[in-house]
Amino acid sequence: MAESLICGIDIGSTKVATIVGISSEDSDEIRIIGFNAAPTRGVKKGLIVDIDQASASVEKSTEKAERMAGHQIKEAFVTVGGPHISSINSHGIVAVANPQFEVVEEDVLRVIDAARAISLSNTRQIIEVTPREYSVDGQGGINNPIGMSGVRLEVDTHIITASATNLKNIDKVLNDLGVKNLGYIFSGVAAADSVLTDTEKDLGVALVDIGGGKIDICIYVEGALSYSSSIPIGARHISNDLAVGLRVSLDSAEKIKLYLSNNKQKVEEAMKKKDKDFLSSAKMNIPEKLPDATPREIVDGIIGPRIEEIFSYIKEEIVKSEFEKHIPSGLVITGGGALTIGMVEQGKRIVRLPIRIGIPDKASGLVDEVMNPMYASTLGLVYYGGKQMFSDDTSYKDFNSILKNFSMNDIISKVKKLFKQFLP
Ligand SMILES: Nc1ncnc2c1ncn2[C@@H]1O[C@H](COP(=O)(O)OP(=O)(O)OP(=O)(O)O)[C@@H](O)[C@H]1O
Ligand SMILES: [Mg+2]
Repeated sequence: MAESLICGIDIGSTKVATIVGISSEDSDEIRIIGFNAAPTRGVKKGLIVDIDQASASVEKSTEKAERMAGHQIKEAFVTVGGPHISSINSHGIVAVANPQFEVVEEDVLRVIDAARAISLSNTRQIIEVTPREYSVDGQGGINNPIGMSGVRLEVDTHIITASATNLKNIDKVLNDLGVKNLGYIFSGVAAADSVLTDTEKDLGVALVDIGGGKIDICIYVEGALSYSSSIPIGARHISNDLAVGLRVSLDSAEKIKLYLSNNKQKVEEAMKKKDKDFLSSAKMNIPEKLPDATPREIVDGIIGPRIEEIFSYIKEEIVKSEFEKHIPSGLVITGGGALTIGMVEQGKRIVRLPIRIGIPDKASGLVDEVMNPMYASTLGLVYYGGKQMFSDDTSYKDFNSILKNFSMNDIISKVKKLFKQFLP
């Protein structure tokens, strides 16, 4: 049974999470053998702002995950996200080259190449090219055109681009640590891969990853990734507001937020009873004395308005995508911020769509800690990345993107064949 080691490094604004898994040929599930999350320094809103600090944070996390796994991390997939991400849907068209007019893999590669030929400034870099649908001689809605007869092959693709400078900085961090970068994966796409169901994607859904410093969004329509973007606001803003409103340190504000969010039931009861003593400094292990405030004053008066602002930005982004009417499955929220008290209830009221919290649960092994919305993008790295590990050619990420709507077995055998053709 062939097994391969697969690693992911999720460089977030508040934590670096490293995951080490084993995927085997005869199972879809990835067995997690190493995991660590360490606080991040030097990253703001998904952007590396201090390479040395970021490197030290990544090193701490990877070292611990390596020790747990008993394997050295030589190569890894990495997340990218934040407002430097943008997306565009692009169309490609080619004539079918084959004299029998049957579409072959090479035509698919050419048409994707045609679609990805967008004008791009040298400060931007493409990180993802996903086919949304193919059409052959004008007949659309095709997932896999290989083997079909026709003279004209077209494709609609979704292309995600990122700031080239930020990607270079991430590369520098990985180079310093001697880790080979296997590919950048947009954190929204990674999170989507670990929590969305096929039915949700088919019906239309928005994945919203509410991290500490940014919110990554991916919209799926008719099973295909159709819009990606990121908003420069995150759950850390809620802690900042609490720090200002209650005149406590940021650390204490964070503890108060976590306490309230992890005890939702008790908070609700205390709110009903207007219990002023519910929050005590001793209970939350904070040094400052808290001002006299009821839980309702804190939840509705300080946390609530920020959640409202967060969802008004999310709604704005969904409207901007023009897919507002195409996502009946609503929002699936991930990231640590998804756990904030009132997030789901207030969100539903503002965006007027169903909302559920996405908990990654596909893996086996050391997964207790990983099964948290905070690590949806981390786990997604090894799943999404894992689908691309069948060749060590550096261009395989593109090949997988091209064929990713097909079944895995299809992809593996076809792409392997394709590589053989290209080998000298
Ligand atoms: N149980 C919880 N309840 C409420 N908030 C939580 C909880 N756990 C984590 N958070 C919040 O989630 C945020 C961190 O989320 P996450 O780990 O997804 O961010 P990140 O990946 O580091 O950052 P980003 O994706 O923005 O770059 C923090 O603001 C933290 O306070
Ligand atoms: Mg994140």
